[in-house]
Amino acid sequence: MKKVTAVLMSILLSFGLAACGSTQDDSKQEATDRTVESVETESSSQPEMEIPEENTEGNPDYEEGKTLVVYFSMPETSDPNNMTQEEDNSAVVIDGEVLGNTQYVAYVIQENTGADIFRIEPETPYPTEHDTLVDLAAQEQEDNARPAIKDSIEDLGQYDTVFVGYPNWWGDMPMILYSFFDAYDFSGKTIIPFNTHGGSGFSGTISTIAELEPDADVREDGFTVSRNNVQDAEPDILAWLADLGYINSSSGASVPEEKEAENTDGKSLVVYYSASGNTEEVAAYIAGAMNADLFELEPVEIYSSADLDWTDRDSRVSREHDNVEERAVPLVADTVENWESYDTVFIGYAGGIIGLN
Ligand SMILES: Cc1cc2nc3c(=O)[nH]c(=O)nc-3n(C[C@H](O)[C@H](O)[C@H](O)COP(=O)(O)O)c2cc1C
Repeated sequence: MKKVTAVLMSILLSFGLAACGSTQDDSKQEATDRTVESVETESSSQPEMEIPEENTEGNPDYEEGKTLVVYFSMPETSDPNNMTQEEDNSAVVIDGEVLGNTQYVAYVIQENTGADIFRIEPETPYPTEHDTLVDLAAQEQEDNARPAIKDSIEDLGQYDTVFVGYPNWWGDMPMILYSFFDAYDFSGKTIIPFNTHGGSGFSGTISTIAELEPDADVREDGFTVSRNNVQDAEPDILAWLADLGYINSSSGASVPEEKEAENTDGKSLVVYYSASGNTEEVAAYIAGAMNADLFELEPVEIYSSADLDWTDRDSRVSREHDNVEERAVPLVADTVENWESYDTVFIGYAGGIIGLN
């Protein structure tokens, strides 16, 4: 039996707004200018959370410097009962408490690495009403805005490694992350990105962070998870932390056996479809890391930008989404040579596109 690993790869396909503001501006301040605040605080618009206890024992592989988890997260409710679909999309309920999707991932990382934690919060709280929030986020992106951050990190200099987490907003980081990278200098530090999303994965955000922080080591093997899977993501987060060499043995965390055994035998194949090249980039990265072969799903009739416009109900992708009979897309090649030789198959796609026959 083959193992098929579905890998959601990032792509700007569905979200037409371009990434913006990828250069640092002169307003970047030294972290030392900032006031002292190293644990997270909550805005009045967001739920009261129990702050994870600080664990100062560190971790085996990064002994010299301390680790910090920074995140932005925007749960659209604090009430675990009677959530609307949109509220449910934005949050997970853990032990009866509502957490933002990214907030939950941040907590799991924090608890298992013994890091400090800092929540990025806007000085002016964001609205929790979904449509208002979505419109505001789009406007901020269009304006290349830099929303003010409420608190600040105490002495960023004490940290060697910073996990930075954010939701995908309009195929990019929320603009307040740009404020964050403008405000702090990460030269000489390691940045490990993680994000949650509704289908777009990281989009191009890891490259954007590398552009914003050219003198930092920005890890490309960040953790990304769909909002549909956040609730059950803990084993995957632990496996990822273990891959990074970052599990804190004192946390008692154990990596599931299945994860440890994965990819140790047989050949691997990365099958992908890429409309804009983003998925292709990720596929190539995985293939390099896994020593896997690549197989591209290439439609005979290439998708134009108009074909990919999911907001147009009559576009090619919308019609394929709505009508099963329109999904048999002819491919340049539809047979993988030596298929039987592969034990593990990674499947990369953007969402809502061609099934694998
Ligand atoms: C303003 C806004 C814009 C969003 N844009 C995208 C997007 O472009 N691509 C995507 O996959 N998900 C998008 N989402 C979905 C979020 O990325 C997803 O729900 C995420 O898990 C929310 O995380 P949080 O609870 O930590 O804020 C968007 C959500 C919001 C509120």
